[in-house]
Parts: sequence; structure tokens; C-alpha cells
Amino acid sequence: MPVIVSAPGRVNLIGDHTDYTGGLVLPMVLEVATTITGDVTDDRVWHLVSDDEPLPVTLHLPIDDPARIEPRWGRYVAGVLHELERAGVAPRGFSGRVSTTVPIGSGLSSSAALEIAVARVATVDRPMPPTDMAQLCQRAEHVASGVPCGIMDQLCIAAGQPGHATLIDCRDLSIEHVPIPSAVTVSVEFIAPRTLAGSEYADRVTETTAVERIVGPLRDASLESLSVIADEKLRRRAHHVISENQRVLDFVAALRRADWTEAGRLMTESHWSLSRDFETSNATMDAAVERTLRAPGVLGARMTGGGFGGCVVALRSVE
Ligand code: GLA
Repeated sequence: MPVIVSAPGRVNLIGDHTDYTGGLVLPMVLEVATTITGDVTDDRVWHLVSDDEPLPVTLHLPIDDPARIEPRWGRYVAGVLHELERAGVAPRGFSGRVSTTVPIGSGLSSSAALEIAVARVATVDRPMPPTDMAQLCQRAEHVASGVPCGIMDQLCIAAGQPGHATLIDCRDLSIEHVPIPSAVTVSVEFIAPRTLAGSEYADRVTETTAVERIVGPLRDASLESLSVIADEKLRRRAHHVISENQRVLDFVAALRRADWTEAGRLMTESHWSLSRDFETSNATMDAAVERTLRAPGVLGARMTGGGFGGCVVALRSVE
């Protein structure tokens, strides 16, 4: 049976490092996408070649340990197939080709796009609700990369609609599609390569967990409650998350009342919160944001996604 599926990349407009504490995020799907074409086979073997990788991946199902698969890009494929097997969906075999226009390692979720594309192939004859698919692919990402990521990337890619931002409540996984008004446009500029594996991403997850042991769920905490946190660094981490959740709500409200100046201001404020309080930026990304803000028509700009490199997203007015 011939199959062709695709899954887009994503950019996050606002709401970073909030998803893994059940917070609010506002990513949107991009036009760039990962496509898989090929044929379902009657054996239990997955064979994939990639336009971007020198070595193909051959996987015999069921897979014992996705984290040991070589070449490494096969771990994302194996992670998804392994999780499907665990969920009681025994995938059939497949032979095909992966190609992508999502820049790899640039913070636009090329790995989540590959995961969702693989899940779409493997469930082509038994469709799965986007939320289930996203959670399954999030677990696959944990296993494949070792990064304890939240749900934002996979859920935005599984459920997002073109031309809309995806407001996700990461506590109950409810979704609202927020149209991007035609008076503004979103631009994305690649600045520096990054990988979250081996980065301080996992430290931030640990730190926010430590904060929640003191003040309870950050989603419900107020800025006033932070005075009980003795550790100055943990207080700043919490300040970022609590204020960022509020900025997501304020940003959506600003878009709805056509207050582009305020929407842009909130994006820029989000960047400096990530940089100073959450410390997931660096000098290169800070300089790129400042340069972007000086360009004509730019209303606001920030580093997007996990941080430590990647892309700058900007809101611009359409002349
Ligand atoms: C990465 C993770 C997401 C999210 C962002 C930061 O993209 O995969 O789950 O935590 O970083 O907002």
C-alpha cells in the first residue's frame, strides 16, 4: 500500500519553558515540513532512507531499546515504533524515504516532525487522536534523545492549523486555534545551531521540579508566593515560568484587540525573562534579538524554543 504523509516544523511565538510544568504555550506550525513516502509491507521490518542522512535505518520489530539504534536519526523512528508497540498497536512493516524542508538542529522541531510523520505512517489505516499521538511521540523523544521535553512541539505539530497559532494548556492538553491577523506577520531567522541533548534543558526541568516542591504547581503559583523561596536562582526560574504563563494570555488578548505594539512588547519581554531569569539564552541569541528589534516594522522579537541557540522569531507589521 503506497503512503505519503507529512508533518510540519513549528515555531513558538511565546510561552517557552512552561510546558513541562503544565503551563501555557503558543506555538504555530510552519510551512516547512518532513515528508515520508513509501509502501507498507507485510513483514515487520522498517527500512528508511533519508535525503539528509548518509546511512539508512533498518529496524526489525519489536524493538528492544530505541536508544541503542544506529545511525542515531533512527532512534526517533525506533522510539515511535517502540511506543506504538507498547500501546498495543503492532505496526506493520514499511519501506520508504524521508525528506524534509525543516532545517535540522535549528530549534524548529525537526525531531518532533519526524516523530509525528513516522506515527502517521504507522497508523495510516487506524487513525489516532492528535493528543494521543503527541503524547506517544513525546515519550519517544524522551527515549530517543534523553531530553525530558514537554508536550508543546509534538502537540502543535499533530494538531496545529496553518495560519493559526495553537494555544495549548499543557495541564489538560486543551487547544484553541488563534488566527494570526493579516495586519501582522511572523518571521523566523536561523541564528545558531543547537542541540538540547546534553544542554542545560534537563537542569531547568530539575530546577522547576525543585521549585514546585516548595510552592506547589507553578501554574497556580503567584509572583507574591515566591518570597518563600530562599534560593535566589530558583526564585528567578519560578519568576520566569509564572510571568511567562501570564504573558501567553496577555499576548493572545493583545492579538484579539489588535494591539500589535503590546503583542510585540510581550514577546521581547519574554526573551529577556528567558535570558536573565531562566538563563537559556546566550550572548549570540541576545545580540540577534537586539539586531532584529532595530529592523523596520519589527514589533517584538525573541529566541524561540528550548534555547542555547536556534532561531529568533519576530512579529512584524504588514505595511
Ligand atoms: C523544547 C521542548 C519543548 C519545550 C521547549 C521550551 O522545544 O521540546 O517541550 O519545553 O523546548 O519551551
